Amino acid sequence: MPWKAKDSVAVVTGASSGIGKCLTQLLADNGCHVIAVARRAERICQWSASHDHTKFGGVTPLAGDITDKDVRLAVRSMIETHHAGKLDLLVNNAGIGGIGKFADATPDRLRQIMEVNFFAPVELTRNLLPALHRGSSPVICNISSVLGHRAVPDKSEYCASKFAMHGWSDSLRAELASAGIQVTLVSPSTTKSEFFDSLIQTDPNQSSSSLGHWSPQRVADRAYRAIRKRRSEVILSWGGKTLVYADRLAPSLMNAILAQRSDKQRSDKQRSDKQRSDKQHPDKPTDASNPDNH
Ligand SMILES: NC(=O)c1ccc[n+]([C@@H]2O[C@H](COP(=O)([O-])OP(=O)(O)OC[C@H]3O[C@@H](n4cnc5c(N)ncnc54)[C@H](OP(=O)(O)O)[C@@H]3O)[C@@H](O)[C@H]2O)c1
Repeated sequence: MPWKAKDSVAVVTGASSGIGKCLTQLLADNGCHVIAVARRAERICQWSASHDHTKFGGVTPLAGDITDKDVRLAVRSMIETHHAGKLDLLVNNAGIGGIGKFADATPDRLRQIMEVNFFAPVELTRNLLPALHRGSSPVICNISSVLGHRAVPDKSEYCASKFAMHGWSDSLRAELASAGIQVTLVSPSTTKSEFFDSLIQTDPNQSSSSLGHWSPQRVADRAYRAIRKRRSEVILSWGGKTLVYADRLAPSLMNAILAQRSDKQRSDKQRSDKQRSDKQHPDKPTDASNPDNH
């Protein structure tokens, strides 16, 4: 049976911006009541107040950090108190990233990314499973990434978190199939959101190269379609599909291409670091004129 937004109850994490905000609006516009979770809940209040309420299902902001156990329990309490303990859709969307070589990062970058992108959604799901069992055609939608299918250099921690989410989603889908709960894994490619403004432990001059960009609205539209059709998995964008399927067909070739790209990025970065340093210290002797080098 397809999933229906009208009169349903959903939880969306990371609803203050980007994909989560667009998906929350889409669900509410179609008559769903959404518990919208994010640390910056005032943003959710702002946009939900200015939204067209005539066909609105309703949005209840819940302020908090999903890595905090009490916040996850507060989501469960809200469902128990206001929605008779019944949940029809959980969207695990909140996520963070960081760019840079693994060898240059502290253990904290890995820890933070895994906490937000993997442990928090897993534990939130654990808390909400009883409510999902009471839902109608329930769906758990996990917003992953094409980097959860093929890892690339300079994003090792992020790729690890999305691979973990991919593996966990596949196991959970099989475990919950007989209970009628679907697990939908949505894997977007690069999306023009605030994601790249909040990268952790990342050199501000570091850039992320990718094949094309989608808008958060376009990603949310496709995620919404996948939820309604109760799909198991969708990989978005031609660039993303090319990366994933090329890797499945020729993994050794893909390894060689990515190793070459990593080397090129390293030498480009060294060149731009040197140019910046030369600009900041124009009087510093160059290698050729430095007597210490001879
Ligand atoms: N952008 C891309 O290129 C891209 C590509 C593939 C997959 N994705 C995935 O898509 C998802 C959404 O990303 P986006 O592009 O929409 O980025 P975004 O605009 O930065 O949105 C991220 C959302 O996550 C929330 N968030 C972050 N840490 C949180 C925490 N500890 N507790 C609660 N909420 C938290 C943020 O809200 P607060 O800061 O207010 O808490 C924000 O609403 C992520 O899982 C990301 O990995 C993104």
